[in-house]
Amino acid sequence: YKLWLGYHAVADKKLAAQYVQQLRYLKFTAGSPTLNAAREELLVGLEGMLSLKPQDIEKPNYSTLFVGVSSSLNLPKNTIAQSEIQQTGKEGYLIRSVTINNKKCIVITAQTDIGILHGVFGFLKLLQTQQAIGVLNILEYPRIMYRVLDHWDNLNRTVERGYAGSSIWNWHKLPGYIDQRYIDYARASASVGINGSVVNNVNANALMLTPEYLEKVKALANTFRPYGIKVYLSVKFSSPIDIGGLKTSDPLDPQVIQWWKDKADEIYRGIPDFGGFLVKANSEGQPGPQAYKRSHADGANMLADALAPHNGIVMWRAFVYDNNVPYDRAKQAYNEFKPLDGQFKSNVIVQVKNGPIDFQPREPFHPLFGAMPNTPLMIEFQLTQEYLGFSTNLVYEAPLFKECLESDTYAMGKGSTVANIITGKFNPKLITGMAGVANIGSDVNWCGHPFAQANWYAFGRLAWNPAQSSATIAADWVKMTFTNQPAFVAPMQSIMLQSRENTVNYMTPLGLHHIMGVNTHYGPGPWVDNAGRADWNATYYHKADSAGIGFNRSSTGSNAAAQYQPPVRDMFENLTTCPDEYLLWFHHVRWDHKMRSGKTLWDDMVHHYYMGADSVKQMQRTWDKMAGYVDKEQFQTVKQLMAVQYDEAISWRNSCVLYFQTFANRPIPAGYQMPA
Ligand code: GCU
Repeated sequence: YKLWLGYHAVADKKLAAQYVQQLRYLKFTAGSPTLNAAREELLVGLEGMLSLKPQDIEKPNYSTLFVGVSSSLNLPKNTIAQSEIQQTGKEGYLIRSVTINNKKCIVITAQTDIGILHGVFGFLKLLQTQQAIGVLNILEYPRIMYRVLDHWDNLNRTVERGYAGSSIWNWHKLPGYIDQRYIDYARASASVGINGSVVNNVNANALMLTPEYLEKVKALANTFRPYGIKVYLSVKFSSPIDIGGLKTSDPLDPQVIQWWKDKADEIYRGIPDFGGFLVKANSEGQPGPQAYKRSHADGANMLADALAPHNGIVMWRAFVYDNNVPYDRAKQAYNEFKPLDGQFKSNVIVQVKNGPIDFQPREPFHPLFGAMPNTPLMIEFQLTQEYLGFSTNLVYEAPLFKECLESDTYAMGKGSTVANIITGKFNPKLITGMAGVANIGSDVNWCGHPFAQANWYAFGRLAWNPAQSSATIAADWVKMTFTNQPAFVAPMQSIMLQSRENTVNYMTPLGLHHIMGVNTHYGPGPWVDNAGRADWNATYYHKADSAGIGFNRSSTGSNAAAQYQPPVRDMFENLTTCPDEYLLWFHHVRWDHKMRSGKTLWDDMVHHYYMGADSVKQMQRTWDKMAGYVDKEQFQTVKQLMAVQYDEAISWRNSCVLYFQTFANRPIPAGYQMPA
C-alpha cells in the first residue's frame, strides 16, 4: 500500500550512522499547508529510515539540515547565489552541501513552497536509494509544464480499462469524507513531480459539471492543493444540451459560448486554481464540433476562451478515428489535425497518443509529432495495461515511453526527437505537457500488479525529465519499494527492462498490432473478423493471406508512411531499411521473405513467439530465487501472477502460431515444439 514511500530502515549500519550524524539538527520553518506537508514527509521519512527525530534549532552550531524557500532561510550572504536559485523555476529545487560556521550543512531550497516539497522528496530519495550525502549539489526542475494523470474513472466507480479494482474516488462519500488514499495518492504523485489530475473518464458524463459533483471535485482539489496537484475535468462536448437545457452545443453559438463561460466562472468560484478541461470529441461516438460543421480548433478555442481569464487550459485529444473514413485508421488524426496547425488558442494543447493506433505493445511514434510546429502537443501514454495483459502481466513501460520519446522525427532536422518537440525546444512559446492514463484503483496495492506501480512512478519521473534512463528509474523504484540489496536490485532491474520486449514477442512481434481479443483487448484474437466494424477486426490489421502478412502502409498501400518526414518515411517505406520492429506495421511481407536474422519471415515470427513465452519462464526462475528479499505475501502475489502470465504467454504463442500457420502453410521450424 505504501508504494515507493515505505521508508524502510537503512540496513547498512555504517551509512545509517553517517546519515544520522549529518541530519540530527533541522532548521525548517513551515507554516503554509505545502511546507507543513513537506516537513511532515521529511520527519516520517527520517523516522522510518533512521529512527531519527531531528532537533529543531535556530542557529547552525552543528551540522544542520536547512530547508526553506530562499527568502526565509537567512543563510550567510553568498552561501548560494540568487542566480542559482532562480534556475529552479516555479517547481524545482536545489540541494547543496555548504559550510556554515565551520559546520558541514545541507540546504534544500527553492523559490516556492512546492519547490521545497519536491526538494524534500528528492532528498528522501537519496536516502531511500542509499546515496552518499557528503557532497551534494543537485539542481532539479521540470522540463515539461503539465504533468498529468488521466483517470478514466466513471461516476459509478467503474474504471474504463482499469484493472486495479474500482475507482479510488468515492463520489458517494465526497465531499464530506476525505479518504486517506486521496492524500497518499497526492503524496506519491507529488513525489515524482506529477502536478495535475484529470479525475474522470474521457468518455465523460455531463453530470460531472453539475453543482452537486463540482462540490465533490472541490473537496478533491482542496486535498491535492498542498501537494501542488491541480484538478482537471474531462468534459462532454454536448454538456450545454445534456445539463444546460440548450438545443445545441455548436461552439459558435452565442448561447453555447455563454454557457461554457458561466460554467467556467462557476467552477473557479469554488476551485480558484482549477486546471482546465480534457476533451474527447468526435471520436468513438463522442459528441463534438464536427456535428455542426465546425473544426476541432473551433471547439477547443471556444472552451479555451472560457478558461483563459482564469489561466485554465484545454487539453484537446487527437485520438480520432472513424469507420467511415476510408481505409487506414492510422492516418486519420494526422489528416484531421495537421491542417489546423497554428489555429489553436495559446491555452490549448493537443493531446496525442504516443502512436497512431492505440497504445499497442509497440507502435511507431505518432506522425503528428513534428508535424504541427505552431501547436502545443502533449504526449499521452497509457499506464493502465489495456493492451499489455491487464494487471496479470509484469510489463515495465518506461522502455516503451523512452522508445517513443527518443524517436527522431527529423521535422526540424536531425535531433528533432519527440522529447525535444514536446518539451518545446523548437518553439519555446508553446505550453508543454505529458499525460499518463492512470493505472490506479482501490486495490490494496493500488495498481493490481505490484510491479505496475513502477509505471506510475516512471511516468512521473519521465514527465519531469524525459532524458532520464529507464534503467535508473527502475533501480530507484526497486530500491525505494523493496530493498537496496544488490542481489535483489540487479535481477529485478533486468527483469523489468526486458519485460516489455518479452510481451511484444509473445503478443505482437515484428510490427503486428491490434490482434487482441475483441472489446476486452485481452488475450489473443488474431482471428477476429466480425467485431461489427472493420477497424475493430484483427484481420484489418494483420491482413494475413497465403502470400504473406502485414499492413501495407508504404506508397503502394495506404501510404501512411508518407505522413513522416522524408528520412523517416524513406526508412519505413523501404523493405530493406524498415526496422524489424515495424516491418509488418508498414509492409505486407511474403512468408518466405529473408529477414535480417537469415530466417524466413515465417520462421522468424515463430521464433519470436517462442522466445517471448520462454522469457516469462526465465522471469519466473529469477523470481523464485527472491523469496528472501521480500515479504511472504509480496513474494506469493508476484509468483502467482507470473504463473498466470506464463499461461497467457503460452496461449498467445500457440494461438498466433497455429492461426497464422493456416495462411503460411509451412511447418513449425525444427527445434520448436508443436503447440498441443
Ligand atoms: C481505447 C480504449 C477506449 C478508450 C479510448 C480512448 O480505444 O479501448 O476504452 O475510450 O482508447 O483513448 O479514448
